[in-house]
Amino acid sequence: MSTDAVPGAEIYTGQFAADPYPTFARLRTDRPVCPVSGRFDQYLITRFDDARVALTDPRLSKDLYGPEAHYLRFFGPNSAGLNRNMLNSDPPEHTRLRRIVSQAFAPRRIEALRPRVARIVDDLIDKVLPHGRAELMHDFAIPLPMTVICELLGIPAADHGRVLDWTQVIRTSGSGERPPEQERAAVQDAQARLYHYLTDLVRAKRARPADDMIGALIDACDQDGTLSGAEVVATTFLLLFAGHQTTADFLGNAVLALLTHPEQLELLRSTPRLLPSAIEELLRFDGPLPVASPRIATEDVEYQGVTIPCGAAVGVVINAANHDPAHFTDPDRLDVRRVRGPHLGFGHGVHYCLGVSLARMEAQLGLGALLRRLSGLRLAVPLAEVRRLPAASPFRGLLELPVTFTA
Ligand code: HEM
Repeated sequence: MSTDAVPGAEIYTGQFAADPYPTFARLRTDRPVCPVSGRFDQYLITRFDDARVALTDPRLSKDLYGPEAHYLRFFGPNSAGLNRNMLNSDPPEHTRLRRIVSQAFAPRRIEALRPRVARIVDDLIDKVLPHGRAELMHDFAIPLPMTVICELLGIPAADHGRVLDWTQVIRTSGSGERPPEQERAAVQDAQARLYHYLTDLVRAKRARPADDMIGALIDACDQDGTLSGAEVVATTFLLLFAGHQTTADFLGNAVLALLTHPEQLELLRSTPRLLPSAIEELLRFDGPLPVASPRIATEDVEYQGVTIPCGAAVGVVINAANHDPAHFTDPDRLDVRRVRGPHLGFGHGVHYCLGVSLARMEAQLGLGALLRRLSGLRLAVPLAEVRRLPAASPFRGLLELPVTFTA
């Protein structure tokens, strides 16, 4: 790592967890390509134009399973069975792995799920409505996408609880609830349990074929040989994790942003047709994946006069790029009327979010129903007491979102 690297502790400090945007602004202006040392060393890219280029730069590889086994740096020893999937691969493997599932996420196929997703949304709201208060992460934002993706994959309802427990250990790691050593052990244990659970589930479905997405992956493995057995498990994990964690954090961030901008909340309530563009704006304003998943430089690469050496990791800071004043007028202002711009909240290039149609549908149905059905919605605690994921987490989201409303 470069000798002028900024220690991560200096970046992920103070108010960063609550409001990282002033730090991102400083980086964008002073060090748009900034080496940062810490849990793992990486170069952060923060300007919109550089971010867009970097996300499609073939010299920045997503193959974390090359000879140097970069995945160990990022995901730890129990991760290989789960993470060898399309997100961590380059073409042509990426093309092969993505093609197998891309049909299932095409807009028309996703549209067919609308009635079922609307039912799940309404059931979750029915449960909290009589109480006049709720903790919206665990009562709504997490179970909504979790139920949807588990049903799509074919994970039995009786298992949703424990699968959720394991994925939550991974999502919330670093929140300081346990000493770091225990935390690492807990994450590795959760990864191992999830891996064994998914392996057993695939085995069971192979013995008794099912008409669900895991069944389709097994067919791709057994009938046309386009997928290996290990890739069936790793793809299932990616769809499970990517399919609920980002959407859950997005819903939490979006509700909090609206509650802290009451005039925008009222505007959206009184003009529901703004919802689709409001969702894009909320994603731009405070997205759940602040930094795209890691890339590795396969040769020396220069950005903004800074040489990123071969083998270095690169983090494209989506949330910094999405607040770049060179691209967005008054970028720190939430404006649900903002004309839908080309934000990077769903990524860019070949790894552009596969689940974008599903995410938008869940967000529209979920946020729409919350605004329509929970009148008088407000935070139940002062803003400073809302508990968040830790500053250095790869995800941006809330641990809890306590609210009250008119019962
Ligand atoms: C608001 C919700 C969501 C957001 C903000 C989001 C964001 C993203 C981003 C930024 C990427 C690119 C990561 C990178 O290049 O490093 C990505 C990839 C991906 N997303 Fe999403 N996502 C969301 C919901 C979903 C859902 C519901 C699914 C459903 C399964 C999903 C599945 C995936 C997959 C499989 C990839 C990897 C694609 C590839 O490598 O080709 N996402 N997502």
